[in-house]
Amino acid sequence: MTVLASALDTGGPDYASHRSAMLEKLAALDAEHTKALAGGGEKYTTRHRARGKLLARERIELLVDPDSPFLELSPLAAWGSDYTVGASLVTGIGVVEGVECLITANDPTVRGGASNPWTLKKALRANEIAYANRLPVISLVESGGADLPSQKEIFIPGGALFRDLTRLSAAGIPTVAVVFGNSTAGGAYVPGMSDHAVMIRERSKVFLGGPPLVKMATGEESDDESLGGAEMHARTSGLADHYAVDEADAIRQARRIVARLNHRKAHPDPASAEPPKYDPEELLGIVPGDLKTPFDPREVIARIVDGSDFDEFKPLYGTSLTTGWARLHGYPVGILANAQGVLFSAESQKAAQFIQLANQRDIPLVFLHNTTGYMVGKEYEQGGIIKHGAMMINAVSNSKVPHLSVLMGASYGAGHYGMCGRAYDPRFLFAWPSAKSAVMGPQQLAGVLSIVARASAAAKGQPYDDEADAGLRALVEAQIESESLPMFLSGRLYDDGVIDPRDTRTVLGLCLSAIHTAPVEGARGGFGVFRM
Ligand code: COA
Repeated sequence: MTVLASALDTGGPDYASHRSAMLEKLAALDAEHTKALAGGGEKYTTRHRARGKLLARERIELLVDPDSPFLELSPLAAWGSDYTVGASLVTGIGVVEGVECLITANDPTVRGGASNPWTLKKALRANEIAYANRLPVISLVESGGADLPSQKEIFIPGGALFRDLTRLSAAGIPTVAVVFGNSTAGGAYVPGMSDHAVMIRERSKVFLGGPPLVKMATGEESDDESLGGAEMHARTSGLADHYAVDEADAIRQARRIVARLNHRKAHPDPASAEPPKYDPEELLGIVPGDLKTPFDPREVIARIVDGSDFDEFKPLYGTSLTTGWARLHGYPVGILANAQGVLFSAESQKAAQFIQLANQRDIPLVFLHNTTGYMVGKEYEQGGIIKHGAMMINAVSNSKVPHLSVLMGASYGAGHYGMCGRAYDPRFLFAWPSAKSAVMGPQQLAGVLSIVARASAAAKGQPYDDEADAGLRALVEAQIESESLPMFLSGRLYDDGVIDPRDTRTVLGLCLSAIHTAPVEGARGGFGVFRM
């Protein structure tokens, strides 16, 4: 029997307190998601509607197949910055005419849909996802172009947006642009570089320079329609392949384009999948409010994999890392999950071996994070913790099977790297509201700074102010704590979203389905030098 047993006491006080801590964090998360949904707020939304236009998410809703899910990505982009939460762009994966597509939609209620530095990061991340997973890209365009006050941050790197569109096309990944309004200057290259362009009567405005700029540059008098209207582009310039009479018609035409793409998935969808034996609702009560208390990741695995069925690999060796094989929504996966927080030499070697096995068998990997990092101390340094950690990081870096990362709890130090943190290109990375990620824990970091400062004062022969030290420690601790939290990290695009633990199986299933649009092929060799 390989069905996981559960020791979770759902009637006990621990479960109740973990659950209420998680629910509190989820309520805070909801409040932030509401800000993203509100876009530019009441005033601009009302004005937009009065113009007879649909909101960004309404356009997406009409575009995707009825009752199909839309996996929104990076909804908290720009959180904690001076820009509106969501970064004036909606991105995500949706099914159009049965084809999983990467959809982006400018939010014209936020500063005219202009792109700020976070919009750019979010758009580039969306392109990366489309490219890695071979998902057709549909751009729903209505944007004031570059956010002019922050142009220095976006103008030069922003060129990558148009480069990406044509590289996607060159790789045989279809690109479709539907222009709902303004798409000027650089923005004109979105329809310009896409395989297919749809424009809307008296709505689309696609020109390199608007009438005032043309007047300035050449003295020529012109108007929006003759410079860049849908009629002109459909009949005269030929930039528009499809002429739509209104927004709904444009979306209908975009759906017809996708229906004719002949875009095929590399791997067929699995026939069926058995749900877990345990209620996913119970995922709320597993992670302790205080991450110093360890938890058994098998309780999580039991609530996300098919039939709670898990074949553990090396269960008696390197027990601080749980590894094993399962299926998730019918897709085979290898899972690496931190059990006791710390990674030792044995865990690192076990991980490296496991990752190689997954590559030999073309099996995607799921990393469930709750690690404080690799073990420090004389015994461990002498035991070769650096070379063993390096072995794991080598395996993660050069592995070619798709990786999915979920930050459940702590994700500190090089442990974040070894468990396929953001810089290691997981196909998708999500965080639970309980997650925390930083170079080390806030208390440890503040303590290290204090020891360094004390030693520095001693070296200079200066007295050390203990009272000031305590104040500074508290300040640093609070700063690092706030910078470790998932909303802050999500705001900086260090993940693809913060998710409700109960949605983990659904979210990973949607990702695995999207991933299997591209061939899943592991590395046969091609790893760096493994230090033994
Ligand atoms: N950068 C920064 N802010 C911008 C912006 C941009 N590119 N485009 C619009 N905004 C701001 C406006 O200043 C306005 O702010 P306010 O309400 O605080 O005064 C808000 O966004 C809404 O703009 P508004 O012009 O009222 O909206 P609209 O829907 O009537 O028109 C545009 C939208 C995009 C057609 C129009 O704003 C425009 O032409 N913008 C400049 C486009 C441009 O030339 N961009 C440079 C391309 S590289």
